[in-house]
Amino acid sequence: VETTQKTIHVELGTRGYDVVVGPGAIDRLPEVIRARCGGTIPRRAMLVLDAGIGTNAEFSAQVAAAAMASVRDRCITLSIQPSEQVKSMETLERLLAEMTRGKLERNEPVIAVGGGIVCDVAGFAAATYRRGVPVVQCPTTLLAMVDASVGGKTGVNLRVGDSLKKNMVGAFHQPVGVLADVRALKSLAEREFRAGLAECIKHALIARGLGAPEVTSEIGADLAAAGARSEIGITAMIARHVALKAMVVSGDEREEAPSTVGGRALLNLGHTFGHAIETLGDLIIDDSRSSGPLLHGEAVALGLCAAAACAGAMGLIAGPMAQEVTKVVASAGLPTRASGLPSIDVLIGLMQDDKKTSGGRLRVILPTSWGESRVVEGPPSRAVRAGWAAIGAP
Ligand SMILES: NC(=O)c1ccc[n+]([C@@H]2O[C@H](COP(=O)([O-])OP(=O)(O)OC[C@H]3O[C@@H](n4cnc5c(N)ncnc54)[C@H](O)[C@@H]3O)[C@@H](O)[C@H]2O)c1
Repeated sequence: VETTQKTIHVELGTRGYDVVVGPGAIDRLPEVIRARCGGTIPRRAMLVLDAGIGTNAEFSAQVAAAAMASVRDRCITLSIQPSEQVKSMETLERLLAEMTRGKLERNEPVIAVGGGIVCDVAGFAAATYRRGVPVVQCPTTLLAMVDASVGGKTGVNLRVGDSLKKNMVGAFHQPVGVLADVRALKSLAEREFRAGLAECIKHALIARGLGAPEVTSEIGADLAAAGARSEIGITAMIARHVALKAMVVSGDEREEAPSTVGGRALLNLGHTFGHAIETLGDLIIDDSRSSGPLLHGEAVALGLCAAAACAGAMGLIAGPMAQEVTKVVASAGLPTRASGLPSIDVLIGLMQDDKKTSGGRLRVILPTSWGESRVVEGPPSRAVRAGWAAIGAP
């Protein structure tokens, strides 16, 4: 089992850490905690569990055993049924209250086991409890493995009036380790699994320009391995995508690179479009295969298609390439069109609200070739409209 695991180091000086990918990764939990939380076995820990893994009896038992072996006294456990509504200040407060009640101390870790929502909210609780305690991220969805668990972005959505502002409150808080155990994925719903592939396609669209051409060139093979649910193929794919994310994060941890360089902001490809539609209800995707609200990955998939069309309208890429992006997205079983979208004017308003605007100007990431993307400040409204129109906005 050991041999099929892959370890990727996220180079961040004293805040650097390893990401272990593969079957059995969760068994490393006691080792990681002992090494990274004060050098001894801590008395307590806070385990934040995604209720979704309850359907995976084998993996749940492995998590429980690993968590118990990681503490001397007890593991305070809290289970979360994730949704974007639950990724909230109230849930954060609930976690903090449990940690306080459980008398969790400074070197005692939070162990997040779940999808991106659990990783984000538990990570944020770890970032803020007593001004910061260690967190070990144990992602259990494909999306969380290739993206959310690595890089230290944590946070919650903020309710403002009756709208939900995605990831509006948060902190950078690097984990002390990431354990991506692919055995967890056995129970993941097909639709959730495909949603994770959207972030992989996003990576493929930026990787060549960042010096990781294999992520771009292997995307077809990766999508095929993922489709076949091959454990070895999926482990290799996740490792490749984690390595890319690690490289981007090491180069620009806090997303501060100037837009001419791109840096971590490039990972937002598809997200400015995607975030605008992610929390809307009642969308019908691809003429009724499934209905909204969209999953995060599905919103990103539509966002990638919109970004490609927008880039096409600006002449950054040729027409066939925009179609190629849509084709790859469709080949992963992801949506490329939605109906029931609000008008383009409303959507542009929602985009302006995104926290990635700067000085009130829209800021989008657009592909310039297959594998290369860049930051575009203030794209012409005609091109943005073409992006929205391409995925079906009226
Ligand atoms: N911090 C970051 O850098 C970053 C990056 C990308 C996305 N995100 C965030 O991640 C979130 C999306 O994450 P997600 O796609 O993992 O969704 P999610 O966290 O909602 O999980 C999806 C569903 O799968 C269930 N589940 C989780 N693991 C399971 C398993 N092994 N078996 C069966 N069911 C399981 C969950 O209960 C949930 O119902 C969004 O809120 C997004 O903003 C954060």
